[in-house]
Amino acid sequence: MLSVRGLSVRYGRSVGALEGVDVEVPGDGVLAVLGGNGAGKSTLLRAVSGTLGLYRGAITEGEISFDGDRIDRLDPAVVVRRGVVAVPEGRQVFARMTVEDNLRAGGLGAASAAARTAARRRVGELFPVLTERASQRAGLLSGGEQQMLAIGRALMSGPRLLLLDEPSLGLAPQMVGRIARIIREIHAQGTSVVLVEQNATMALQVADHAAVLEVGRIALSGPAAELAASEDVQRLYLGGHAESQAQADAEEAEARTHRGRRTLSRWVG
Ligand SMILES: Nc1ncnc2c1ncn2[C@@H]1O[C@H](COP(=O)(O)OP(=O)(O)OP(=O)(O)O)[C@@H](O)[C@H]1O
Ligand SMILES: [Mg+2]
Repeated sequence: MLSVRGLSVRYGRSVGALEGVDVEVPGDGVLAVLGGNGAGKSTLLRAVSGTLGLYRGAITEGEISFDGDRIDRLDPAVVVRRGVVAVPEGRQVFARMTVEDNLRAGGLGAASAAARTAARRRVGELFPVLTERASQRAGLLSGGEQQMLAIGRALMSGPRLLLLDEPSLGLAPQMVGRIARIIREIHAQGTSVVLVEQNATMALQVADHAAVLEVGRIALSGPAAELAASEDVQRLYLGGHAESQAQADAEEAEARTHRGRRTLSRWVG
């Protein structure tokens, strides 16, 4: 379904961020893309969603096709209409808009009013909390709820391929588990997923296939179960994970407190 062949990407005049990357997502699959900071995971998603230009990046070599058609020269809005929708890193919601208006904005890309209504029902079933909080401002949701809203908004356009950039980042373990189950459910409903994660434990549980990026190149790829069992992956990505996740969670909680205070002072005046 998605096929990336020999993809190289460069930002401005700096050295390449991706170098000859090959990945495939079969028609009904979840592909996990693992790798450390700066490995090129987000760059890969930006290339697929056609948004590299927004970051002053460009494809220098290779091609990306979806359902047999090249998509690597298309405008981002056209890529969305073809059925490929990205949820960028950092839970980007429209903080001052209500939850419902955020979802409505996502629905602008839907094929028809009927498709929009069906998508809204699906989002309501996957994320009941978004319906409960429909009239609340999105900036007041918890981190986990904002992540759900970001995913829900992407689903509103009825994608066939969903690109998720680190949905578990900074979330408590229980919320990570919930997001993981939701990704499986989205996949069971017929949407393929590319899941970019530093949380290899979670990603390898959710995915069928996985690829490991190291400094812009694919270092390993194969069935998720095989990678989970591989010594290299265990040593590099599964072993030290608990500690680094605890550290990341602590940093995120700290950042959230600051953001919360800023938002509060805006509201309170
Ligand atoms: N807008 C940009 N301009 C210049 N260089 C960039 C830009 N975005 C990313 N890079 C560089 O490209 C490389 C890959 O970055 P990318 O953000 O894709 O990594 P990542 O795997 O998503 O990392 P992280 O886990 O930290 O999100 C890095 O060397 C990074 O510094
Ligand atoms: Mg990234």
